[in-house]
Amino acid sequence: MKSSFELLLVVIATFSTIHIVQPQSQQGFISLDCGLPANEVSPYKEDITGLQYSSDATFIQSGKPGRIQPNLETRFLKPYTTVRYFPDGTRNCYNLGVQKGRNHLIRARFLYGNYDGLDINPKFDLYLGPNLWSTVDLHRLDNGTRREIFHIPTSNSLQICLVKTGETTPLISALEIRPLGNKSYNTSFGSLSLFFRIYLSQSDTSLRFPNDVYDRQWSSYFETGWTHKTTASDVRVSNNYEPPKAALKTAATPTNTSAPLTIDWSSENPEDQYYLYTHFAEIQELQANETREFNMFWNGEKYYGPLVPDKLDITTIYGGTPESCKGVRCSLQLIKTNRSTLPPLLNAIEVFRVIKFPQPETDENEVVALKTIEATYGLSRINSQGDPCVPRQLMWDGLNCSNTDVFTPPRIISLNLSSSGLTGNIAAAIQNLTQLVKLDLSNNNLTGELPDFLGNMKFLLLINLSGNDLNGSVPKSLQRKGLELSLQGNPRLVLSSPSTKPHKKSFVVPVVASVGSVAILIAALILYLVLRKKRQPTIEVVCPPPSRPTVNVTNANSPEPSIEMKKRKYTYSEVMKMTNNFERVVGEGGFGVVCHGTVNGSEQVAVKLLSHSSTQGYKEFKAEVDLLLRVHHTNLVSLVGYCDEGDHLALIYEFVPNGDLRQHLTGLEYLHIGCTPPMVHRDVKTTNILLDEHYKAKLADFGLSRSFPVGGESHVSTVVAGTPGYLDPEYYHTGRLGEKSDVYSFGIVLLEMLTNQPVIDRNRRNSHITQWVGSELNGGDIAKIMDPNLRGDYDSRSAWRALELAMSCADPTSAKRPTMSHVVIELKECLVSENSRRNMSRRMDSLSSTEVSMTFDSGMIPRAR
Ligand SMILES: *[C@@H]1O[C@H](CO)[C@@H](O)[C@H](O)[C@H]1NC(C)=O
Ligand SMILES: *[C@@H]1O[C@H](CO)[C@@H](O)[C@H](O)[C@H]1NC(C)=O
Ligand SMILES: *[C@@H]1O[C@H](CO)[C@@H](O)[C@H](O)[C@H]1NC(C)=O
Ligand SMILES: *[C@@H]1O[C@H](CO)[C@@H](O)[C@H](O)[C@H]1NC(C)=O
Ligand SMILES: *[C@@H]1O[C@H](CO)[C@@H](O)[C@H](O)[C@H]1NC(C)=O
Ligand SMILES: *[C@@H]1O[C@H](CO)[C@@H](O)[C@H](O)[C@H]1NC(C)=O
Ligand SMILES: *[C@@H]1O[C@H](CO)[C@@H](O)[C@H](O)[C@H]1NC(C)=O
Ligand SMILES: *[C@@H]1O[C@H](CO)[C@@H](O)[C@H](O)[C@H]1NC(C)=O
Ligand SMILES: *[C@@H]1O[C@H](CO)[C@@H](O)[C@H](O)[C@H]1NC(C)=O
Ligand SMILES: *[C@@H]1O[C@H](CO)[C@@H](O)[C@H](O)[C@H]1NC(C)=O
Ligand SMILES: *[C@@H]1O[C@H](CO)[C@@H](O)[C@H](O)[C@H]1NC(C)=O
Repeated sequence: MKSSFELLLVVIATFSTIHIVQPQSQQGFISLDCGLPANEVSPYKEDITGLQYSSDATFIQSGKPGRIQPNLETRFLKPYTTVRYFPDGTRNCYNLGVQKGRNHLIRARFLYGNYDGLDINPKFDLYLGPNLWSTVDLHRLDNGTRREIFHIPTSNSLQICLVKTGETTPLISALEIRPLGNKSYNTSFGSLSLFFRIYLSQSDTSLRFPNDVYDRQWSSYFETGWTHKTTASDVRVSNNYEPPKAALKTAATPTNTSAPLTIDWSSENPEDQYYLYTHFAEIQELQANETREFNMFWNGEKYYGPLVPDKLDITTIYGGTPESCKGVRCSLQLIKTNRSTLPPLLNAIEVFRVIKFPQPETDENEVVALKTIEATYGLSRINSQGDPCVPRQLMWDGLNCSNTDVFTPPRIISLNLSSSGLTGNIAAAIQNLTQLVKLDLSNNNLTGELPDFLGNMKFLLLINLSGNDLNGSVPKSLQRKGLELSLQGNPRLVLSSPSTKPHKKSFVVPVVASVGSVAILIAALILYLVLRKKRQPTIEVVCPPPSRPTVNVTNANSPEPSIEMKKRKYTYSEVMKMTNNFERVVGEGGFGVVCHGTVNGSEQVAVKLLSHSSTQGYKEFKAEVDLLLRVHHTNLVSLVGYCDEGDHLALIYEFVPNGDLRQHLTGLEYLHIGCTPPMVHRDVKTTNILLDEHYKAKLADFGLSRSFPVGGESHVSTVVAGTPGYLDPEYYHTGRLGEKSDVYSFGIVLLEMLTNQPVIDRNRRNSHITQWVGSELNGGDIAKIMDPNLRGDYDSRSAWRALELAMSCADPTSAKRPTMSHVVIELKECLVSENSRRNMSRRMDSLSSTEVSMTFDSGMIPRAR
């Protein structure tokens, strides 16, 4: 059994022979013969499969065609006889049209064939859009290799890129894309990377299109100690998976009828997770006194069963959640039950490794805009291939982008086409790069007038148009504070107004302790809600927005308050009226008291009054007003208005009725004792996360939020402020505030949510929550750490993950903390496994016995980590 994995690899790596049946539709198939010379017919029909292969020339702008050594052409047929290789540029990409949201089989084939006569074995990386798919190392792979995934593209265009990583030149032989049925192989997260796909047969035929409608490739596989079964009868294969009939017409059973049937392999990485799809059909004629019934075991643990395969009809078993092997040895065993008279049987199996593509592609509109700009100016640069922004090390020349390490689509923040020989007008498509901060078009031959749209691009801090031949006058919209405009060397331009004088003042966008933390809050809250579903049966689980929350931020330096701002200003007497003379105090914080009030007769508000002895000053008050009037997000407490009249300062918020997270954590008895303030006043902590009537989270209190300059410094020095326990120790010691300070506070919030322990408890041996959890983690008993109110109703794996994540967030060294994006990804994944665990019981219940395809979720079986 030892060699089975190696054997499988060889089987997979071989372009084996295929056999044919009746014609099938190739609708939606893309079959590219890479490097097919221009003088050869394209498309052509491949003899064995009948597939129509075409030249790849129209799908890629770079690379050169090559041909394998003539002596190999007898062994390898088209499309493997030619290659496209990429001596120029680091990244070269194919652009393929696909159907967004639909699952696709994506397969790339590589056969070196000593096409360059150098007899070296190339090694390079394969990318799917901005994400690493695989490293291809052709060393000793004389028969070539292939990479295959099932993947759901997030846009209608799919980029497959070959990236040079060393001295050798990347190459590709064939590229195949097949749209799949929309119910098959969908997974809760990650894409599926083919590990192996076999049917158990002693024949050495590999099955492909047209036997397989989706052109999956099935290798035959057999072991000694197995008995070969085969049938001449027709087998029904029509479920969501539709494997080839030929793959189901054969099967293996253990020759020793009481022994298990075992398929095992080694995992390259113990952390790898696998999805299994096993296909069964009873192909033996059973006597009245015979039964075949067996259970499936995954690494020694029950996986599914008992299963009785249907006569000449397919049953597909797959796990709803991916499974890792315990260590490097993976094994699937079929063991007969004691009432079974016959040994277990298996017809075919597919094993996939979970592969994640976490980096989102650059905003689609911006990619289109960039391509339009390049086309407008006739620019074609070798490195303008693939995603413009990510991976960061392959970013296009002249660009800079934001969010390149974040779980949101990157945006273009800087475009530098200085000295690029541009002619004509300033391209209109530039206006679609809406997040642009810097635009450098200096030293070109641009003509025409300065377009108005530049003035409407609110984030622009620098426009350099010097050294062109522009004319007309400078639009008023460009004469704004905070925008540095360089127009020297445009002799025909009328520099009439003072606006052309560069302002050195820097433009600052205030961000609520960075937008990322809002996302974290949401994700964390969801985790909280999910974990606590049992205790709060009415809670509606709110799904996290997939992309960055919309945050409307206008120019912070605008000299006049906006009209909106004026409208929301209240007089002191109005404040007194709305609170009925500050009748009902609902809370108290560093600012002063918070009173309940009513505006417009019915709208409930919370009025926060700034007391004269307040530790938070006028500056923080202004900061909060400025920010909340401009920032709107469903997960931020919104400001209804404010009062700024002499000594009287007040903030009027929407009233958030359900109190804060801490209150819910500390349980119901706490509510009986009395109402704590629904609003406390500082930074990220459980008391600053308010819950509305639907238990939707809202982040409150921005008096302390700091403004971060765009670009440049990643941290700002401030006077240390915050709440003990939640305060980043590094920030405390150095006074340097950065995004990672929020990550720390968030780690604490997470720990608090998971454990329901106070952050600081002097009666505890380890008074700070991180110390306490740290020492409990050493004990290894998760039940002791998790909130006892959950009564163990959680997936222990997600719980471990969440705890470990929280602890890494709360690492004393900021550099060791994960980024916000990482936190969001992790929490989402915890949520997914927790959700699938909960959904499973329902799914199983609704499974009717007539259904051909069964689903199975091993998460149902409670299991220690
Ligand atoms: C390549 O395939 C041939 C025929 O299938 C086989 O004999 C040979 O061992 C293979 N070579 C390698 C390196 O796998
Ligand atoms: C499957 O996808 C096709 C094409 O996108 C669509 O027309 C069809 O309604 C989908 N079927 C189901 C059951 O979702
Ligand atoms: C897979 O697709 C089916 C049918 O569209 C759907 O009901 C099911 O929820 C999907 N499963 C996952 C894990 O997305
Ligand atoms: C058959 O398998 C059973 C169970 O694995 C084992 O106990 C028995 O020794 C085997 N018999 C032979 C002849 O190998
Ligand atoms: C089933 O019945 C047949 C005769 O009809 C007999 O030969 C065979 O031994 C029986 N098998 C079992 C497992 O009882
Ligand atoms: C199957 O055998 C095991 C022991 O080998 C026994 O504990 C179990 O009760 C048996 N099950 C049935 C259904 O007979
Ligand atoms: C690009 O922008 C990032 C911020 O997103 C900044 O950290 C980096 O220094 C910038 N790089 C250049 C070359 O301007
Ligand atoms: C644009 O690139 C040129 C060199 O290619 C450089 O001199 C210039 O400073 C860059 N402009 C900006 C705004 O970074
Ligand atoms: C900007 O983007 C929109 C939406 O993608 C598009 O309709 C419009 O034509 C673009 N404008 C320019 C000037 O390219
Ligand atoms: C502008 O064009 C002229 C010729 O039309 C050329 O001589 C000059 O070098 C160009 N200037 C720049 C900056 O490209
Ligand atoms: C604008 O570009 C010109 C030429 O590249 C350069 O000399 C000048 O310093 C730039 N101005 C700014 C503000 O970057």
